[in-house]
Amino acid sequence: MKFFIDTANLDEIREAESWGVLSGVTTNPSLYAKEGGRLADFEEHMVKICEMCEGLPVSAESTAKTTDEMVDEGRHLSSLAPNIVVKLPVCAESLAATRTLAAEGVRVNMTLVFSAPQALLAANAGARYVSPFVGRFDDIAEDGIDQLATVVQCIKNYEWHKNVDDQCEIITASVRTPNHVTQAALLGADIATVPFAALKKCLRHPLTEEGLAKFEADWQKVTGKD
Ligand code: E4P
Repeated sequence: MKFFIDTANLDEIREAESWGVLSGVTTNPSLYAKEGGRLADFEEHMVKICEMCEGLPVSAESTAKTTDEMVDEGRHLSSLAPNIVVKLPVCAESLAATRTLAAEGVRVNMTLVFSAPQALLAANAGARYVSPFVGRFDDIAEDGIDQLATVVQCIKNYEWHKNVDDQCEIITASVRTPNHVTQAALLGADIATVPFAALKKCLRHPLTEEGLAKFEADWQKVTGKD
């Protein structure tokens, strides 16, 4: 399973990128607003992320409402950098827009997916990625991982992930914890997009910290240094 980072924060992206394990970036209007972003700077900010992550897919979300507006904005966003992926929320208008954009070679990440039928519709429309949300189910006391399992099974049954011309990868989104990452990998999701704080938690384990402290203490005995 590949790791994307779910943030619009340049420092977080830079640091995650420096680990050498980053395969992409996802952003959304809330994440951009969290950085104090303004509409006038949105495109410049996306281009900065794309340049930092050359060659990696960077999802930029469209806020257009109609199919025509989504197609226009999708074309424009994808012209900003070769690695832009246009993020559209699943709805009738975005399915039609995805069909057009995909035919032109523009990659679409269909977001706000909360059910298998939505994911199947997105894949049929030609979405390059579908993003089922996990954490938001947990927020309303439902099991997000159960929902993800259904989406993964349905998409993998039809091998969209294997067909190079018609490939659709599953991005586990709305990830809150390392356990969400583990469960997504157990289920065979292609990607998990993880906020930086959760990514750091994925890296750590108390026994790793303890092991390091022990090695250091024992090495001091070997070297005789305090
Ligand atoms: C990513 O593509 C999604 O926009 C993001 O993971 C949503 O996360 P949230 O549910 O924490 O807002």
